Amino acid sequence: MIGRSRATPSGRSPEVVLTELLRDQQARFAELDTGLPPAVLPPPGDVVVVGDGPGGEAAGVVTQHSWPAGSAPLLWSAAEVTELHPVLGHSGRRGADRLLAEWPGRVPARVRAAADSAAVVTWPSRDVAAARAFLDHGLVPLAVLAVRRPGPLAGVLDRDPGLEVRPAGEDDLEGCVELAMHEIAYSSMVGGSVLRPDAEAVKRTALRERWARGEPIFLAERDGRLVGLLECGLTEATPGSWLAGLLPTGRWGYVNCASVLPGHRGRGVGHALVAAALPALQPPGVRGTYLYYNPPNPVSSVFWPRHGYRPLWTLWEVRPAAALR
Ligand SMILES: CC(C)(COP(=O)(O)OP(=O)(O)OC[C@H]1O[C@@H](n2cnc3c(N)ncnc32)[C@H](O)[C@@H]1OP(=O)(O)O)[C@@H](O)C(=O)NCCC(=O)NCCS
Repeated sequence: MIGRSRATPSGRSPEVVLTELLRDQQARFAELDTGLPPAVLPPPGDVVVVGDGPGGEAAGVVTQHSWPAGSAPLLWSAAEVTELHPVLGHSGRRGADRLLAEWPGRVPARVRAAADSAAVVTWPSRDVAAARAFLDHGLVPLAVLAVRRPGPLAGVLDRDPGLEVRPAGEDDLEGCVELAMHEIAYSSMVGGSVLRPDAEAVKRTALRERWARGEPIFLAERDGRLVGLLECGLTEATPGSWLAGLLPTGRWGYVNCASVLPGHRGRGVGHALVAAALPALQPPGVRGTYLYYNPPNPVSSVFWPRHGYRPLWTLWEVRPAAALR
């Protein structure tokens, strides 16, 4: 189901153009990266069709959403988000460029006026032709969704004997919140995280919910002091779900938050946490593990690829949304 749409240059309905281009997009994604799931139709929204002729036409759907105060996504997202879901077919950089030029005109005045707003596109990391167009329109590669095939870590380093790594218990809640806040503070300098006044309370609730679901959380302790946190989960990319548009269907482990206390970084704490957590994140039959990191983060952008993760999707973003050009 696609929402509001307008006439297309070729006279075909926007829905027909989208469906035709989706077939080409599926072929293109398969050529670009065998790790991608088949391309799916965008969610309902404002359908945009640009260009004409074979190979010249591109389509997309523009959607908007507002995150309510106190909701967990506000820890990493702007409050008002306009999102473009391109269906480029084979139109490449030219199609992306035309679509991006059309986008600002489809952003509601409410979103354009909001300081706490963002324009976002999620696109296969290996499509460098589209990347050029995103850069030209003011978007930055603020995050990547990175994946790792199941399997043991290559080159597990000896752990410092004074370092203990263990699953967290509910008594550790405040220690986990403190460590998570260090991660948000760091990531707010190099990515999309926002250190909001209620961040601590929101994070406390999110951690409690994770415990209630029985998901794995690991802590590192040195001399009786908590020095590292790896907050993880297990999830299912079920056919038709939002996640199945990003990852092949099946079970996935993921890392939600990795944090080592300032002053203890670069000494193997993060590595020891990942080595301890991976078995729990890879039950039999799992498709792999995934996480998000920020390419401008000078530590995580090295740390995760060293542990076998590689970009699958890039989240291109500009804040505020009015800065889209
Ligand atoms: C990213 C982060 C979790 C990594 O944890 P860390 O404890 O600093 O990482 P490690 O010490 O295990 O690994 C970092 C480096 O130290 C090296 N290192 C030094 N001594 C080591 C030892 N005894 N054992 C293992 N690695 C050691 C590692 O080889 C690694 O080198 P590299 O950066 O060249 O790959 C941590 O730096 C952090 O909290 N950063 C701020 C918040 C953040 O960015 N979080 C991640 C968001 S996705």
